[in-house]
Amino acid sequence: MRGPLGRDHPLVLSPLVDVTDAAFRSVASEWGADVTCSEMVSAAGLVHGNAKSWRLVQPWPGESPYGVQLMGGDADEVAHAVEAVCARVGPDFVDLNLGCPSPNILRSCAGGFLLRDPARAARVVRAAVDAGAEHGTPVSVKMRVGPSWDRPTFLDVGREAEAAGAAWCTLHGRTVDQGYRGEADWSTIAALVDALSVPVVGNGDLRGPDDVLRMRDETGCHGFFIARAAMHDPTVFRRMRQALDGAPVSAPPQLAARVAALRTYLERAGASDAVHPAVLKRQATRFVSGAPGAKAVRQRLQSAGSVPELLVALEGFGAPDAPGSLEVAAADDE
Ligand SMILES: Cc1cc2nc3c(=O)[nH]c(=O)nc-3n(C[C@H](O)[C@H](O)[C@H](O)COP(=O)(O)O)c2cc1C
Repeated sequence: MRGPLGRDHPLVLSPLVDVTDAAFRSVASEWGADVTCSEMVSAAGLVHGNAKSWRLVQPWPGESPYGVQLMGGDADEVAHAVEAVCARVGPDFVDLNLGCPSPNILRSCAGGFLLRDPARAARVVRAAVDAGAEHGTPVSVKMRVGPSWDRPTFLDVGREAEAAGAAWCTLHGRTVDQGYRGEADWSTIAALVDALSVPVVGNGDLRGPDDVLRMRDETGCHGFFIARAAMHDPTVFRRMRQALDGAPVSAPPQLAARVAALRTYLERAGASDAVHPAVLKRQATRFVSGAPGAKAVRQRLQSAGSVPELLVALEGFGAPDAPGSLEVAAADDE
């Protein structure tokens, strides 16, 4: 079976709050992300015309295939948000967040809260699917294993989502109460592949090319969502694609390439003025983490107050002929 949007094992840039803005997604696409997605956006924010919410769902020029990820617990509100996003933005798909563990999202009965109640999750998915269908826009879901390992509801929620018309399901092999602790349990992804007829996309702890091959072989999943590895180094997509194609995989992260990607990101994000400088500074610090000389450049980045100053702080760092500029450590977890 082919994966999401008819693609063969697509590498999807997973939604990341305060990371996957349009400029970041443009860089990830250039490094081989097959599909991109906005960060999670509140359905209520869109329905009530919140300017920040609407800014977050805007695609980069020509970005495709591009999805908008929505978060909401009220079926009618989610349907209105899907309708509005399809009419005003026209994404290639809408993804529903059924897994976010953040306490304020759980309190609003959205995100991972919906895993407690598969019937309610199904009502939200069905409402979104119906609204998307008016515009020919498929709706997918991204979920975790369940509220806790005592209540692994993913098979029920997955079956309900499929019956409600979801085009595919992405599963992060951790529970809501687990947060990011421990390892993702990929056997849950294999179980969901067996249970559903729609494509299943695997997520969790895909750090490099070997992980992608291992997840494909161990689970039979039809695509991959890549989050923290891309957040630290969007050039990882190229190596993952090489591995999936059976081609020789380039050497591990080249610092020069990574810094070049960072500079492109900062220039684009700075030009659009859409991303807060504090977010850009955090992102710059992530990109350089683990590299030789990172401590000094981090200090320079910390005292920068604008995009031009961030670019100056990076000068000379990661130049192809700089000593020790070749290898950096693998992305660490946040
Ligand atoms: C900083 C941060 C922000 C995130 N934001 C979102 C989000 O907006 N929507 C979502 O579905 N998941 C979000 N996630 C979860 C990731 O998309 C992904 O499911 C998780 O990190 C596991 O994948 P990984 O092991 O490749 O990082 C976020 C994770 C992190 C660390």
